[in-house]
Amino acid sequence: MLLGFMGAGKSTIGPLVAERLGWRFIDVDQEIMRQEGMTIAELFRTRGEEAFRALENRLTAGLSCHARTVLAPGGGWVLRPGALDSLPDSACTVWLRVSPEEAVRRLRGTLDDRPLLAGADPLAQARELLAQREPLYARAHHIVDVDARAPEDVARQIAALIATGDHGGDEEG
Ligand code: S3P
Repeated sequence: MLLGFMGAGKSTIGPLVAERLGWRFIDVDQEIMRQEGMTIAELFRTRGEEAFRALENRLTAGLSCHARTVLAPGGGWVLRPGALDSLPDSACTVWLRVSPEEAVRRLRGTLDDRPLLAGADPLAQARELLAQREPLYARAHHIVDVDARAPEDVARQIAALIATGDHGGDEEG
C-alpha cells in the first residue's frame, strides 16, 4: 500500500510498481469518483469532508485485503483513527516522502482538484497538513524519498522492497 501526501506520486508510481510485480493497481480516489459519479472536489463541496472520509475508509478497508494489489488511498486516509491498525498483517506499507515545496510545485495547475490545498497559500497549508500527518506516514514499513527522482526509479525501488517480502515485521520488533 502506498501512503503519502498529495503530490507524492502515488497515482503515477502505483501503476509502475504494479506492472513490475504483475499485480493490479487501485487508486482509491478514482474508485470513489467512479462509484459516486463526481469528482473529489464535488464530493467535498456537496457532502463535506467527513462523508468523503467515511467512503474512503470503507473502500480502503475492503480493498486492503485483496492479494496482489498495489493500493493507493488518498493522502488523508491515515488520519482516520485506527486506519493503519486495521490493515491486514500481510499488507506492506510504503511512505512516498515528498517535501511540501515539491508537492505544491508538482500540483500547480491542479490545485482546484485538491480541496485541502485550494486556499490562498497552498504551501503553508501543505506544511501544516504534512506536519500533522508525518507521524502517521512514518509508521509505514518502508520510507522512500521521492523529491527529484524519476517515477520509474522510485517504482523499481518499491517493487524490490515488496518482492523481498520484508515488511519490517516481528523479527525486527
Ligand atoms: C487528500 C488527498 C487527495 C484526496 C482528497 C484529500 C488529503 O488524494 O483524497 O483531496 O487529505 O490528503 P491524493 O493524495 O491522491 O491527492
